[in-house]
Amino acid sequence: MNKPRLLDLFCGAGGATKGYQRAGFYVVGVDIKPQPHYCGDEVYQADALTYPLDGFDAYHASPPCQAYSRLRFLPWLKGKDYPALINDTRDILLSTGKPWVIENVADAPLGREFGSIMLCGWSLAELPIYRHRLFESNIAMLAPGHRPHPSVIYPGGKLNRRYSQNGGIGVFGFTKGVPRSYGTFVSVVGHDGTANFPRAKEAMGIDWMNKAELTQAIPPAYTEYIGGYLMRAVQEAYEEATKAYEEALAKAYEETIAKIKKTQVETSSRRVLDEAEVKEGDKR
Ligand SMILES: C[S@@+](CC[C@H](N)C(=O)[O-])C[C@H]1O[C@@H](n2cnc3c(N)ncnc32)[C@H](O)[C@@H]1O
Repeated sequence: MNKPRLLDLFCGAGGATKGYQRAGFYVVGVDIKPQPHYCGDEVYQADALTYPLDGFDAYHASPPCQAYSRLRFLPWLKGKDYPALINDTRDILLSTGKPWVIENVADAPLGREFGSIMLCGWSLAELPIYRHRLFESNIAMLAPGHRPHPSVIYPGGKLNRRYSQNGGIGVFGFTKGVPRSYGTFVSVVGHDGTANFPRAKEAMGIDWMNKAELTQAIPPAYTEYIGGYLMRAVQEAYEEATKAYEEALAKAYEETIAKIKKTQVETSSRRVLDEAEVKEGDKR
């Protein structure tokens, strides 16, 4: 079996793509903007909602999260209009009949038709980042248990200071009583943060993106995990299709043999009858 093909809609620079590649997929990305740093196997600039879906074994979609993120309530973002594309995205993925996943922020309306799981960087892979993300899918998936956070986001003033418009990448402090060996935890938000970029890249497990791309991405560890489920579903579908094909082939073979045998029996009966008639004629 060649590498299964996965289409990553709304791919950005490929945080999700990288994890699917690690899970064994050949990944094609689609984004409405040029993605010069994209890390996948092929990338196309197009509208994800009208891109042709044929020729893929599995699908991932990360529609823009701004319409659903709680950060939309920040004073400088209030009143801004963002496209809410989750329902349209689900509709096109349903039409494929193949395994798919939609990813988005924790407040997004995912999991209403199908189940969704939430991944947390700390709980999944001991990354020094929480970055809670929901994954809705038409296949069954389990999430690792959600572990207590060893460090917390401070409320109010601290949030504003840490996440101000010109300091988008923040690093949390330590929580009292938590071993310092856990290191500092990172929150990657906003577009123009200058602080802690190297630490943020390290925490996300991403070294090929610029700051703006990084703030949009998910850690590849998430989709490496999800990709394991998609890969099993693709392999099961492949095995089922192979089995069905082999059974159809065996049935066709048996039918052909039966037809040949029938023809042989008919031909030899005909010959016996013909010979009998000739003998009868000779007697007369
Ligand atoms: C949340 S980011 C995706 C991040 C990516 N999953 C990652 O892990 O790096 C959403 C992306 O959707 C793109 N986008 C927005 N509207 C789109 C559309 N209609 N079609 C395709 N891409 C779109 C944006 O340019 C942006 O790169």
